[in-house]
Amino acid sequence: MHVQKLELIDFRNYQQLTLALTPGRSFFIGPNGSGKTNLLEAIRVISCGRSHRGTRDGDMVRVGCPGYRISVRAESKHGCLELDLVWRRDQGKRLSLNGVALERMADALGRFPVVIFSPGELELVQGSPIGRRKYLDLLLCQLFPTYYDQWLNYHRVLLQRNRLLITSRGDPPPAEREAWDASLIQAGLPLAGHRHRLAAKLAEVLPALQGRLAGGAQPMRLEYRPGVPGATPSSRNGEEWAAAFRQALARTRAVERRRRLTLSGPHRDDLAISWEGRSIRTFASQGQQRMAALALKLAEVELLRREGGEAPVLLLDDVLSELDDRRRGALLEFLDGGGQTLITAATLDGAIRPDAAARFYHVEAGRVHHA
Ligand SMILES: Nc1ncnc2c1ncn2[C@@H]1O[C@H](COP(=O)(O)OP(=O)(O)OP(=O)(O)O)[C@@H](O)[C@H]1O
Ligand SMILES: [Mg+2]
Repeated sequence: MHVQKLELIDFRNYQQLTLALTPGRSFFIGPNGSGKTNLLEAIRVISCGRSHRGTRDGDMVRVGCPGYRISVRAESKHGCLELDLVWRRDQGKRLSLNGVALERMADALGRFPVVIFSPGELELVQGSPIGRRKYLDLLLCQLFPTYYDQWLNYHRVLLQRNRLLITSRGDPPPAEREAWDASLIQAGLPLAGHRHRLAAKLAEVLPALQGRLAGGAQPMRLEYRPGVPGATPSSRNGEEWAAAFRQALARTRAVERRRRLTLSGPHRDDLAISWEGRSIRTFASQGQQRMAALALKLAEVELLRREGGEAPVLLLDDVLSELDDRRRGALLEFLDGGGQTLITAATLDGAIRPDAAARFYHVEAGRVHHA
Protein backbone atom coordinates (compact mmCIF):
# COMPACT_ATOMS: atom_id res chain seq x y z
CA MET A 1 0.00 0.00 0.00
CA HIS A 2 1.37 3.42 -0.82
CA VAL A 3 0.07 6.94 -1.28
CA GLN A 4 0.75 8.40 -4.73
CA LYS A 5 -0.89 11.73 -4.22
CA LEU A 6 -2.12 13.70 -1.23
CA GLU A 7 -4.24 16.83 -1.55
CA LEU A 8 -5.29 19.10 1.28
CA ILE A 9 -7.53 22.12 1.33
CA ASP A 10 -7.91 24.26 4.46
CA PHE A 11 -6.64 21.49 6.72
CA ARG A 12 -4.81 22.89 9.77
CA ASN A 13 -2.10 25.26 8.48
CA TYR A 14 -2.38 24.00 4.87
CA GLN A 15 -4.43 26.28 2.66
CA GLN A 16 -3.81 24.20 -0.42
CA LEU A 17 -1.36 21.35 -0.88
CA THR A 18 -0.79 18.86 -3.69
CA LEU A 19 1.94 16.39 -2.96
CA ALA A 20 3.17 13.49 -5.09
CA LEU A 21 4.67 10.63 -3.09
CA THR A 22 6.59 7.49 -3.92
CA PRO A 23 6.96 4.09 -2.21
CA GLY A 24 9.85 3.62 0.21
CA ARG A 25 11.07 6.17 2.76
CA SER A 26 10.24 9.87 2.66
CA PHE A 27 11.55 12.34 5.22
CA PHE A 28 9.73 15.56 6.07
CA ILE A 29 12.06 18.03 7.71
CA GLY A 30 11.06 21.40 9.05
CA PRO A 31 11.09 23.65 12.11
CA ASN A 32 8.69 23.29 15.03
CA GLY A 33 5.20 24.35 14.12
CA SER A 34 5.74 24.13 10.35
CA GLY A 35 3.07 21.46 9.67
CA LYS A 36 4.87 18.10 9.75
CA THR A 37 2.53 16.42 12.21
CA ASN A 38 -0.46 18.00 10.45
CA LEU A 39 0.56 16.26 7.25
CA LEU A 40 0.66 12.82 8.87
CA GLU A 41 -2.50 13.59 10.79
CA ALA A 42 -4.37 14.24 7.52
CA ILE A 43 -3.40 10.79 6.22
CA ARG A 44 -4.44 9.18 9.46
CA VAL A 45 -7.79 11.06 9.43
CA ILE A 46 -8.71 9.84 5.97
CA SER A 47 -7.63 6.30 6.87
CA CYS A 48 -9.87 5.88 9.89
CA GLY A 49 -12.02 8.97 10.25
CA ARG A 50 -10.32 10.38 13.32
CA SER A 51 -7.22 12.21 14.36
CA HIS A 52 -4.67 10.28 16.41
CA ARG A 53 -4.45 13.43 18.55
CA GLY A 54 -8.12 13.11 19.45
CA THR A 55 -8.85 16.50 17.89
CA ARG A 56 -12.36 17.41 16.79
CA ASP A 57 -12.99 18.27 13.15
CA GLY A 58 -13.80 21.87 14.00
CA ASP A 59 -10.27 22.31 15.31
CA MET A 60 -8.65 20.76 12.24
CA VAL A 61 -10.23 23.24 9.83
CA ARG A 62 -7.87 26.04 8.95
CA VAL A 63 -8.76 28.93 11.19
CA GLY A 64 -11.60 31.01 9.74
CA CYS A 65 -12.56 28.51 7.02
CA PRO A 66 -15.92 26.70 6.65
CA GLY A 67 -14.51 23.21 6.10
CA TYR A 68 -11.56 21.06 5.07
CA ARG A 69 -10.85 18.50 2.40
CA ILE A 70 -8.39 15.59 2.32
CA SER A 71 -7.91 13.49 -0.82
CA VAL A 72 -5.64 10.53 -1.28
CA ARG A 73 -4.80 8.45 -4.30
CA ALA A 74 -3.15 5.22 -3.24
CA GLU A 75 -1.97 2.05 -4.89
CA SER A 76 -3.10 -1.09 -3.09
CA LYS A 77 -3.19 -4.79 -3.81
CA HIS A 78 -6.71 -4.22 -5.10
CA GLY A 79 -5.48 -1.60 -7.56
CA CYS A 80 -5.87 2.15 -7.44
CA LEU A 81 -7.83 3.64 -4.57
CA GLU A 82 -9.19 7.18 -4.42
CA LEU A 83 -10.50 8.47 -1.13
CA ASP A 84 -11.97 11.92 -0.77
CA LEU A 85 -13.06 13.32 2.58
CA VAL A 86 -14.87 16.61 2.94
CA TRP A 87 -15.89 18.06 6.28
CA ARG A 88 -17.97 21.18 6.53
CA ARG A 89 -19.14 22.88 9.65
CA ASP A 90 -22.74 22.87 8.43
CA GLN A 91 -22.80 19.40 6.82
CA GLY A 92 -20.43 17.19 8.76
CA LYS A 93 -18.29 14.57 7.02
CA ARG A 94 -18.70 13.08 3.60
CA LEU A 95 -16.43 10.39 2.27
CA SER A 96 -16.22 8.91 -1.17
CA LEU A 97 -14.31 5.88 -2.34
CA ASN A 98 -13.37 5.75 -6.02
CA GLY A 99 -15.94 8.43 -6.76
CA VAL A 100 -18.81 6.67 -4.96
CA ALA A 101 -20.22 8.40 -1.88
CA LEU A 102 -20.19 6.18 1.22
CA GLU A 103 -22.97 6.29 3.75
CA ARG A 104 -20.67 6.07 6.73
CA MET A 105 -17.00 6.72 7.43
CA ALA A 106 -16.83 3.19 8.82
CA ASP A 107 -17.58 1.71 5.40
CA ALA A 108 -14.05 2.57 4.30
CA LEU A 109 -12.30 1.14 7.37
CA GLY A 110 -9.57 -1.28 6.41
CA ARG A 111 -9.42 -0.14 2.78
CA PHE A 112 -6.51 2.19 3.42
CA PRO A 113 -4.61 0.85 6.42
CA VAL A 114 -2.23 3.23 8.14
CA VAL A 115 -0.15 2.83 11.29
CA ILE A 116 1.10 5.91 13.09
CA PHE A 117 4.02 6.04 15.52
CA SER A 118 4.08 9.22 17.56
CA PRO A 119 5.34 10.27 20.97
CA GLY A 120 1.72 10.13 22.23
CA GLU A 121 1.80 6.36 21.78
CA LEU A 122 3.43 6.11 25.19
CA GLU A 123 -0.12 6.38 26.49
CA LEU A 124 -0.64 2.85 25.24
CA VAL A 125 1.62 1.64 28.01
CA GLN A 126 1.28 4.38 30.62
CA GLY A 127 -2.35 5.33 30.24
CA SER A 128 -5.72 3.90 31.18
CA PRO A 129 -7.25 0.73 29.68
CA ILE A 130 -9.30 2.88 27.26
CA GLY A 131 -6.24 3.46 25.08
CA ARG A 132 -5.43 -0.25 24.97
CA ARG A 133 -9.00 -1.14 24.02
CA LYS A 134 -8.86 1.49 21.28
CA TYR A 135 -5.64 -0.06 20.04
CA LEU A 136 -7.30 -3.48 19.80
CA ASP A 137 -10.48 -2.05 18.28
CA LEU A 138 -8.80 -0.03 15.57
CA LEU A 139 -6.65 -2.95 14.53
CA LEU A 140 -9.70 -5.24 14.47
CA CYS A 141 -11.65 -2.70 12.39
CA GLN A 142 -8.84 -2.67 9.86
CA LEU A 143 -8.64 -6.47 9.75
CA PHE A 144 -12.35 -7.38 9.85
CA PRO A 145 -14.90 -5.19 8.07
CA THR A 146 -17.74 -6.56 10.23
CA TYR A 147 -16.05 -5.73 13.54
CA TYR A 148 -17.10 -2.08 13.64
CA ASP A 149 -20.81 -2.96 13.56
CA GLN A 150 -20.33 -5.59 16.25
CA TRP A 151 -18.57 -2.97 18.38
CA LEU A 152 -21.32 -0.45 17.75
CA ASN A 153 -24.02 -2.96 18.57
CA TYR A 154 -22.45 -3.92 21.90
CA HIS A 155 -21.99 -0.31 22.93
CA ARG A 156 -25.57 0.55 22.01
CA VAL A 157 -26.87 -2.25 24.20
CA LEU A 158 -24.49 -1.22 26.97
CA LEU A 159 -25.72 2.37 26.81
CA GLN A 160 -29.32 1.23 27.05
CA ARG A 161 -28.59 -1.08 29.96
CA ASN A 162 -26.82 1.77 31.75
CA ARG A 163 -29.79 4.04 31.08
CA LEU A 164 -32.09 1.44 32.57
CA LEU A 165 -29.90 1.32 35.69
CA ILE A 166 -30.15 5.08 35.99
CA THR A 167 -33.89 5.46 35.36
CA SER A 168 -34.69 2.61 37.76
CA ARG A 169 -32.33 4.00 40.41
CA GLY A 170 -30.19 0.90 40.13
CA ASP A 171 -33.06 -1.49 40.66
CA PRO A 172 -34.79 -2.44 37.39
CA PRO A 173 -37.66 -4.92 37.29
CA PRO A 174 -36.08 -8.41 37.09
CA ALA A 175 -37.68 -9.30 33.76
CA GLU A 176 -36.36 -6.14 32.15
CA ARG A 177 -32.89 -6.58 33.59
CA GLU A 178 -32.75 -10.18 32.40
CA ALA A 179 -33.75 -9.15 28.90
CA TRP A 180 -30.97 -6.53 28.78
CA ASP A 181 -28.47 -8.95 30.28
CA ALA A 182 -29.29 -11.46 27.55
CA SER A 183 -28.86 -8.79 24.84
CA LEU A 184 -25.59 -7.60 26.36
CA ILE A 185 -24.21 -11.13 26.48
CA GLN A 186 -25.26 -11.84 22.92
CA ALA A 187 -23.76 -8.60 21.63
CA GLY A 188 -20.57 -9.07 23.65
CA LEU A 189 -19.64 -12.53 22.42
CA PRO A 190 -18.26 -11.63 18.96
CA LEU A 191 -16.38 -8.67 20.42
CA ALA A 192 -14.74 -10.68 23.17
CA GLY A 193 -13.96 -13.50 20.73
CA HIS A 194 -12.20 -11.16 18.31
CA ARG A 195 -10.24 -9.39 21.04
CA HIS A 196 -9.20 -12.64 22.65
CA ARG A 197 -7.90 -14.07 19.38
CA LEU A 198 -6.12 -10.84 18.50
CA ALA A 199 -4.46 -10.62 21.91
CA ALA A 200 -3.19 -14.19 21.48
CA LYS A 201 -1.66 -13.29 18.11
CA LEU A 202 -0.09 -10.13 19.53
CA ALA A 203 1.38 -12.09 22.41
CA GLU A 204 2.86 -14.48 19.88
CA VAL A 205 4.56 -11.86 17.66
CA LEU A 206 5.64 -9.40 20.37
CA PRO A 207 8.70 -11.14 21.87
CA ALA A 208 10.50 -11.38 18.52
CA LEU A 209 9.70 -7.76 17.62
CA GLN A 210 10.78 -6.46 20.96
CA GLY A 211 13.93 -8.61 20.73
CA ARG A 212 14.83 -6.80 17.50
CA LEU A 213 14.49 -3.45 19.21
CA ALA A 214 15.98 -4.23 22.58
CA GLY A 215 18.54 -6.90 21.78
CA GLY A 216 18.90 -9.69 24.28
CA ALA A 217 16.57 -8.19 26.88
CA GLN A 218 13.97 -10.38 28.51
CA PRO A 219 10.88 -10.63 26.35
CA MET A 220 7.87 -8.62 27.35
CA ARG A 221 4.61 -10.43 27.88
CA LEU A 222 1.16 -9.41 26.84
CA GLU A 223 -1.96 -10.90 28.36
CA TYR A 224 -5.59 -10.29 27.66
CA ARG A 225 -7.39 -9.25 30.85
CA PRO A 226 -11.02 -9.79 29.94
CA GLY A 227 -13.87 -7.81 31.47
CA VAL A 228 -15.62 -11.18 31.71
CA PRO A 229 -13.21 -13.29 33.69
CA GLY A 230 -13.21 -17.04 33.77
CA ALA A 231 -14.03 -18.17 30.24
CA THR A 232 -12.40 -17.95 26.85
CA PRO A 233 -14.85 -16.83 24.24
CA SER A 234 -14.99 -18.83 21.04
CA SER A 235 -17.76 -19.95 18.75
CA ARG A 236 -17.56 -23.44 20.24
CA ASN A 237 -17.93 -22.44 23.86
CA GLY A 238 -20.26 -19.47 23.48
CA GLU A 239 -22.47 -21.09 26.10
CA GLU A 240 -19.66 -21.26 28.62
CA TRP A 241 -18.71 -17.65 28.03
CA ALA A 242 -22.35 -16.55 28.33
CA ALA A 243 -22.60 -18.36 31.66
CA ALA A 244 -19.41 -16.66 32.91
CA PHE A 245 -20.77 -13.25 31.85
CA ARG A 246 -24.10 -13.96 33.55
CA GLN A 247 -22.25 -14.92 36.73
CA ALA A 248 -20.09 -11.81 36.57
CA LEU A 249 -23.20 -9.64 36.22
CA ALA A 250 -24.77 -11.40 39.19
CA ARG A 251 -21.61 -10.89 41.26
CA THR A 252 -21.51 -7.17 40.59
CA ARG A 253 -25.27 -6.61 40.96
CA ALA A 254 -25.08 -5.02 44.39
CA VAL A 255 -22.38 -2.55 43.31
CA GLU A 256 -24.22 -1.84 40.05
CA ARG A 257 -27.27 -0.93 42.11
CA ARG A 258 -25.21 1.66 43.91
CA ARG A 259 -23.19 2.98 41.01
CA ARG A 260 -25.91 2.59 38.36
CA LEU A 261 -23.38 1.40 35.83
CA THR A 262 -22.62 -1.89 34.08
CA LEU A 263 -19.46 -3.16 35.71
CA SER A 264 -18.55 -6.29 33.79
CA GLY A 265 -18.28 -7.02 30.10
CA PRO A 266 -15.91 -6.45 27.18
CA HIS A 267 -16.05 -2.67 27.81
CA ARG A 268 -13.84 -3.43 30.84
CA ASP A 269 -11.25 -5.44 28.88
CA ASP A 270 -7.60 -4.58 29.26
CA LEU A 271 -4.19 -5.79 28.19
CA ALA A 272 -1.58 -6.49 30.84
CA ILE A 273 1.92 -5.81 29.63
CA SER A 274 4.76 -7.03 31.77
CA TRP A 275 8.48 -7.38 31.74
CA GLU A 276 10.47 -9.67 33.99
CA GLY A 277 7.22 -10.53 35.70
CA ARG A 278 6.36 -6.94 36.61
CA SER A 279 3.91 -4.49 35.12
CA ILE A 280 5.62 -2.22 32.61
CA ARG A 281 3.27 0.58 33.55
CA THR A 282 4.41 0.81 37.13
CA PHE A 283 7.87 -0.68 37.01
CA ALA A 284 9.74 0.08 33.78
CA SER A 285 11.78 3.19 33.02
CA GLN A 286 10.57 5.82 30.58
CA GLY A 287 12.87 4.44 27.88
CA GLN A 288 11.69 0.89 28.48
CA GLN A 289 8.07 2.04 28.31
CA ARG A 290 8.79 3.75 25.03
CA MET A 291 10.31 0.52 23.69
CA ALA A 292 7.23 -1.40 24.81
CA ALA A 293 4.88 1.06 23.08
CA LEU A 294 6.98 0.85 19.95
CA ALA A 295 6.90 -2.94 20.04
CA LEU A 296 3.09 -2.82 20.27
CA LYS A 297 3.00 -0.61 17.18
CA LEU A 298 5.36 -2.96 15.34
CA ALA A 299 3.04 -5.82 16.24
CA GLU A 300 0.20 -3.84 14.66
CA VAL A 301 2.22 -3.52 11.45
CA GLU A 302 3.17 -7.19 11.52
CA LEU A 303 -0.42 -8.37 11.90
CA LEU A 304 -1.71 -6.05 9.18
CA ARG A 305 0.95 -7.43 6.86
CA ARG A 306 0.30 -11.01 7.82
CA GLU A 307 -3.45 -11.14 8.29
CA GLY A 308 -4.47 -8.23 6.11
CA GLY A 309 -2.13 -9.34 3.34
CA GLU A 310 -0.70 -5.88 2.73
CA ALA A 311 1.86 -3.59 4.33
CA PRO A 312 0.11 -0.51 5.76
CA VAL A 313 1.36 3.03 5.16
CA LEU A 314 3.62 3.88 8.10
CA LEU A 315 3.74 7.32 9.64
CA LEU A 316 6.63 8.06 12.02
CA ASP A 317 6.10 11.35 13.77
CA ASP A 318 9.16 12.58 15.62
CA VAL A 319 10.15 9.15 16.88
CA LEU A 320 13.56 8.61 15.32
CA SER A 321 15.28 11.34 17.29
CA GLU A 322 14.30 9.60 20.53
CA LEU A 323 16.02 6.32 19.65
CA ASP A 324 19.67 5.39 19.82
CA ASP A 325 21.52 4.35 16.67
CA ARG A 326 20.98 0.64 17.01
CA ARG A 327 17.27 0.88 17.72
CA ARG A 328 16.75 3.41 14.95
CA GLY A 329 18.46 1.03 12.53
CA ALA A 330 16.40 -1.94 13.74
CA LEU A 331 13.17 0.02 13.43
CA LEU A 332 13.86 1.26 9.91
CA GLU A 333 14.97 -2.16 8.78
CA PHE A 334 11.74 -3.69 10.04
CA LEU A 335 9.59 -0.98 8.49
CA ASP A 336 11.25 -1.30 5.13
CA GLY A 337 9.50 -4.61 4.50
CA GLY A 338 7.72 -3.19 1.48
CA GLY A 339 5.23 -0.35 1.34
CA GLN A 340 5.78 3.25 2.29
CA THR A 341 7.11 5.07 5.34
CA LEU A 342 6.67 8.80 5.93
CA ILE A 343 8.99 10.17 8.60
CA THR A 344 9.05 13.61 10.22
CA ALA A 345 11.94 15.25 12.07
CA ALA A 346 12.67 18.81 13.13
CA THR A 347 16.25 18.58 11.94
CA LEU A 348 18.17 16.12 9.88
CA ASP A 349 20.97 15.61 12.36
CA GLY A 350 23.74 13.09 11.91
CA ALA A 351 21.64 10.60 13.82
CA ILE A 352 19.23 10.14 10.94
CA ARG A 353 21.37 8.70 8.22
CA PRO A 354 19.87 9.36 4.86
CA ASP A 355 19.98 6.43 2.52
CA ALA A 356 20.23 6.66 -1.23
CA ALA A 357 16.68 5.54 -1.88
CA ALA A 358 15.05 7.99 0.55
CA ARG A 359 13.33 11.18 -0.55
CA PHE A 360 13.51 14.46 1.31
CA TYR A 361 11.00 17.24 1.67
CA HIS A 362 11.22 20.59 3.42
CA VAL A 363 8.18 21.71 5.37
CA GLU A 364 7.85 25.42 6.05
CA ALA A 365 4.74 27.27 7.24
CA GLY A 366 2.22 24.97 5.59
CA ARG A 367 4.18 24.43 2.38
CA VAL A 368 6.09 21.34 1.31
CA HIS A 369 8.96 21.37 -1.17
CA HIS A 370 10.91 18.50 -2.58
CA ALA A 371 14.48 18.93 -1.42
N1 LIG B 1 -6.88 24.71 12.64
C1 LIG B 1 -5.73 25.28 12.36
N2 LIG B 1 -5.66 26.34 11.50
C2 LIG B 1 -4.50 26.94 11.21
N3 LIG B 1 -3.33 26.58 11.73
C3 LIG B 1 -3.32 25.54 12.59
C4 LIG B 1 -4.51 24.86 12.94
N4 LIG B 1 -4.21 23.86 13.81
C5 LIG B 1 -2.89 23.96 14.00
N5 LIG B 1 -2.36 24.95 13.27
C6 LIG B 1 -0.95 25.37 13.20
O1 LIG B 1 -0.18 24.28 12.75
C7 LIG B 1 1.10 24.39 13.35
C8 LIG B 1 1.49 23.10 14.00
O2 LIG B 1 1.68 22.18 13.05
P1 LIG B 1 2.33 20.78 13.40
O3 LIG B 1 1.81 20.26 14.68
O4 LIG B 1 2.14 19.95 12.19
O5 LIG B 1 3.83 21.23 13.57
P2 LIG B 1 5.13 20.34 13.48
O6 LIG B 1 5.83 20.72 12.22
O7 LIG B 1 4.78 18.92 13.65
O8 LIG B 1 5.94 20.89 14.70
P3 LIG B 1 6.84 20.14 15.81
O9 LIG B 1 8.17 19.96 15.20
O10 LIG B 1 6.85 21.09 16.93
O11 LIG B 1 6.15 18.85 16.14
C9 LIG B 1 1.05 25.43 14.42
O12 LIG B 1 1.77 26.54 13.98
C10 LIG B 1 -0.40 25.73 14.56
O13 LIG B 1 -0.64 27.05 14.86
MG1 LIG C 1 5.02 17.60 15.21
